[in-house]
Amino acid sequence: MVGRPASRTDLDGILERGMAGPGRLSRPEIVRLLSLEDPGDLRRLRQAAYSVKLRHAGRNVSLRGLIEMGNVCAKNCFYCGIRRGNAKVERYELDAEAVAGMAKWAYDQKYGSVVIQSGEIESAEHTGLVCRILGRLADFSGGELGVTLSLGEQEEEVFRLWREAGAHRYLLRIETSSPELYRRLHPADHDFERRLLCLRRLRALGYQVGTGVMCGLPGQTLEQLADDVLFFRRLDADMLGLGPYIPHPDTPLGASLEIGDSYRARQLDLGLKMISVCRLYLHDVNIAAATALQALADNGRELGLGAGANVIMPNVTDLAHRKKYQLYAGKPCLEESSDRCRGCLALRVAGAGETILWGERGDSPHYRRR
Ligand code: 5AD
Ligand code: SF4
Ligand code: FES
Repeated sequence: MVGRPASRTDLDGILERGMAGPGRLSRPEIVRLLSLEDPGDLRRLRQAAYSVKLRHAGRNVSLRGLIEMGNVCAKNCFYCGIRRGNAKVERYELDAEAVAGMAKWAYDQKYGSVVIQSGEIESAEHTGLVCRILGRLADFSGGELGVTLSLGEQEEEVFRLWREAGAHRYLLRIETSSPELYRRLHPADHDFERRLLCLRRLRALGYQVGTGVMCGLPGQTLEQLADDVLFFRRLDADMLGLGPYIPHPDTPLGASLEIGDSYRARQLDLGLKMISVCRLYLHDVNIAAATALQALADNGRELGLGAGANVIMPNVTDLAHRKKYQLYAGKPCLEESSDRCRGCLALRVAGAGETILWGERGDSPHYRRR
């Protein structure tokens, strides 16, 4: 099947059903869309997804300033460059002052929202630090600044404290919805069930919940990716962060993988297809054009917008720390200041014919509807 142009009527029927409303595609149809390779078919998939995005988000892009708060992580995921076992990483953790400074810059630049991300730390000190940061953000923005946390699995009480302190969105990628693949990507003490439980708890606490997966993992099948898409709907996710897997040389999973041009092109294409399929199946969720797309192609994020994404997360971390936060090889903007990225991004988004929603929080339409 792979590579052969799909018959017009057949593909058109699937795309029309996808465009008509959320949840209308079957698992085999999703697999079918993910296996498209003919350039004409891919263009039709993208156009169908883009038309759904237009309906729910218009030709608009919401920004989230990404603050990489620290690279200390208790976990040891086999794919990730800042895993506990990578001794080459120089570890850092920003204090409340530094994080609040970066968030204030993003707020003044009218980014509307920030994402605070770090490796996974479960401790009373860390919980308290994040509470203090949230307090500072609420103070200077009067609660106007959108705040997403991406700080890994935590106890329910911690999620509650952070919600009360002003966080209203939480990103926790499931990484893969296949428990079997999850086990192959993580050491035995990483618990798929706990991750699921965290997602449910976040939901119950009133967060806008974001999840997502990596696409193109070694051994991952299109059927598993289709199951991921079905999982997002079952979870009733408000936001998605989807990105291609990119090998990191100092990790168990990435050490032996060659990253040639054709590998990069394949990973990029799969990441874009996954965005389009999610848009066609879920309709009104926020979908981020992940930075990993930009690592594979200079215009990766613009391609992501064209495929149906409506959120971009420009890095607002001080240059001094960016190099220490490398989840994968080839992370972009390691030498560019936040200011320069802002200008670059504005030009690129305008060039793609889209409008940045400066100064707006950009909540997920799906969440507003619930
Ligand atoms: N390639 C792409 N994405 C990665 N992540 C971690 N390691 C990699 C990699 N090698 C993603 C995970 C995590 C997010 C913060 O970064 O999906 O949830
Ligand atoms: Fe830690 Fe997240 Fe990397 Fe896993 S993916 S090692 S939890 S930072
Ligand atoms: Fe950083 Fe283009 S976004 S230089």
